[in-house]
Amino acid sequence: MSNQVNSAQQWPEFILPDSLYTDNIRELHAEIEHKWDMSRRSACQIAAGRALWRHVINDPLAELLAGETYLKSLYEKIKRDCLNNAREVSGVMIAVRTLWFDKQIEAALSSFDGGATQVVLLGAGMDTRAYRLSCLKESDIFEIDFPEVLQMKTSVLKEAINEQKRPMLTAKSLKGVAADLREKDWLKKLQASGLELKKNTVWVLEGILYYLSHSHAMEVLKVIANNCASANTVLLADFMNKQATKMCSSIFHFYSDWPDLLLPSLGFSQVKLSQIGDPDAHFGLLHDPLNLFNKLRSLPRSLQTHPDDGTPCCRLYLLQASGAPPLQTIP
Ligand SMILES: C[S@@+](CC[C@H](N)C(=O)[O-])C[C@H]1O[C@@H](n2cnc3c(N)ncnc32)[C@H](O)[C@@H]1O
Repeated sequence: MSNQVNSAQQWPEFILPDSLYTDNIRELHAEIEHKWDMSRRSACQIAAGRALWRHVINDPLAELLAGETYLKSLYEKIKRDCLNNAREVSGVMIAVRTLWFDKQIEAALSSFDGGATQVVLLGAGMDTRAYRLSCLKESDIFEIDFPEVLQMKTSVLKEAINEQKRPMLTAKSLKGVAADLREKDWLKKLQASGLELKKNTVWVLEGILYYLSHSHAMEVLKVIANNCASANTVLLADFMNKQATKMCSSIFHFYSDWPDLLLPSLGFSQVKLSQIGDPDAHFGLLHDPLNLFNKLRSLPRSLQTHPDDGTPCCRLYLLQASGAPPLQTIP
């Protein structure tokens, strides 16, 4: 712990939570580590990012959902980055991505022309927006993930309730929908849980598409495009480019180097692409003009490797789009 005191003095914003877990919560997290594959465990890694970047993200439940192992491992990386005066500190990408989705969800909900609103989180993992975003107070939230992920999240949150840290829902309602996005029935399952396609809907695909194969990811996007009209649909999604998926090709599969062309080809309209570090996607966290993200933004998107050192250009694109445009009526 002496390290922690030193680190806390040097980097007061990054704090490793102390004595956070009960035995029951530790047991639940042990099950995650022993039984889950990388794709499911990634839910906890992302939660660890949100927990350690708590000075910019308000997600008080993230540390419980992340578990000690992922918190400690990311904390060590952050410590190393800080000691080495790294231009970008580990987890900053998760922080920026979370803040971008938060902001876009709020903007999408206020762009709808009245009426009931729904937010669907595909591959929701340990997302806690239903508990932390006040802009969701009039919205019904649907979280899709594997049954064991949803069950585990419920169990950990129940333990938090036992510990008198009762998580309060800020959304109007929250439904967990156990489904595999590689199967054909996920939309039916959503509808069976109460989703109404005619209502204003924000589809949130955060950290999910690249875990799917190309055909499964395309199918998910097509299902949304084919079932949702522009007037009441906003799609928010992040895409890796090809080089980014190569960093870990056993886990990441689907990529698009030009998602801003892909989405219109599927029927989406009003597509806007941002890169981490863009004016709408830095949140004051990427000051150094020479950090990785800012350097990438200054290079043509068609470049696969950095001209200076030949390293791969790994990009994460943030996309917002509307549903299919209304059919043209011939006067
Ligand atoms: C990187 S995590 C992202 C979680 C959450 N969206 C976030 O940003 O915190 C990926 C999530 O997608 C889920 N997932 C992966 N493949 C899936 C599939 N075929 N069907 C449903 N969920 C899936 C995993 O279980 C995991 O919770």
